[in-house]
Amino acid sequence: MALDANGHPVSRISQRKLDHLRLSLEASVQSTRSAGFDRVAFPHVALPELDLDQVDTRTEFLGHPLRLPFLISSMTGGAGPAGDINRRLALVAQVMGIAFGVGSQRAGLSFKDLRHTYQVRSVAPDVLLFANLGAVQLNYGLRTEHCVEAIDMIGADALVLHVNPLQEALQAEGDHNFRGLLGKIEKLCKELACPVIVKEVGSGISGDVARRLVEAGVKAIDVAGMGGTSFARVEAFRRERPEDVEMALAFSEWGLPTVDALRQVRQVAPQVPLIASGGLRHGLDAAKALALGANLTGFAHAVLAAASEGEEPVRRLLEGFAWQLRVAMFCAGAANLTALQSIELAELR
Ligand SMILES: Cc1cc2nc3c(=O)[nH]c(=O)nc-3n(C[C@H](O)[C@H](O)[C@H](O)COP(=O)(O)O)c2cc1C
Repeated sequence: MALDANGHPVSRISQRKLDHLRLSLEASVQSTRSAGFDRVAFPHVALPELDLDQVDTRTEFLGHPLRLPFLISSMTGGAGPAGDINRRLALVAQVMGIAFGVGSQRAGLSFKDLRHTYQVRSVAPDVLLFANLGAVQLNYGLRTEHCVEAIDMIGADALVLHVNPLQEALQAEGDHNFRGLLGKIEKLCKELACPVIVKEVGSGISGDVARRLVEAGVKAIDVAGMGGTSFARVEAFRRERPEDVEMALAFSEWGLPTVDALRQVRQVAPQVPLIASGGLRHGLDAAKALALGANLTGFAHAVLAAASEGEEPVRRLLEGFAWQLRVAMFCAGAANLTALQSIELAELR
């Protein structure tokens, strides 16, 4: 059987991608704790002095214009059905003027015949498109030229590096050595022509970690906080022995809730382009995340079921989120996203 750079059989990487999709759709893999959006509320403005139909949701991220501050978060690629999902999501991103990220391209780097499962430019020529690789791979043979290859493979505008220590620790086949990664990320930021974004995968990026990443040259942060997809639960359900399942499930509640991560990162890095993801269920959560200082709001699990059905269900779902965002802006008296971002949310007890 063919092996990847680390000696893993290729079918194992593709199988893992399929497991992640299947479990995220079928198993109970949502965090048992909240992302925190239920703890905050907009002050209601009964006299908004606005026309709902003229509320302006346009923005830009890393210099790229967007019609809505939405991102379809990095999820998949590296297996046939994953390619269909990527193309559907990218097509909707193109039609709606929002951003899109493919999942980890490690399988595509190792195996040329899987590259098409990430390639979406034919259906999404104008989309703000993010490539994706695991930062820990910088300790396992991933070099700058491989990152350039991943970016060129899909014609990406930026590279997302995910940091996922909990997931790697709980995976039977996980990579454990996270030592010295910050220096390698710094070197990569200097050597790459396009911006580097760092994200978690559902355990959150704290203010302290964000500060170190920004000092290293990272151009944007996606907090990917706790409260949505729990990779402790995903990886638990991939284990066979009951004791391994129990071992991983103990970490179901691990992580920094998205709302707290956003607040921490905004405090230490007021200017950094910031993506809120992790447990965003709809457009009102997105509106709250924007008021907490996010520039872009990311959805993974929320769109996955629709993505397995087709483009139209994804488009309808995201149009609904856009409508909810506009209603929240209207009732909070915010004519545009700059005004929304200056609103102070009330704390609910
Ligand atoms: C099926 C699935 C696969 C994922 N694969 C990746 C990945 O390859 N790279 C990555 O950076 N994040 C990956 N993620 C994490 C998401 O991008 C996101 O950070 C996380 O799911 C939290 O968002 P959510 O609560 O909206 O699901 C994946 C998530 C899901 C549900």
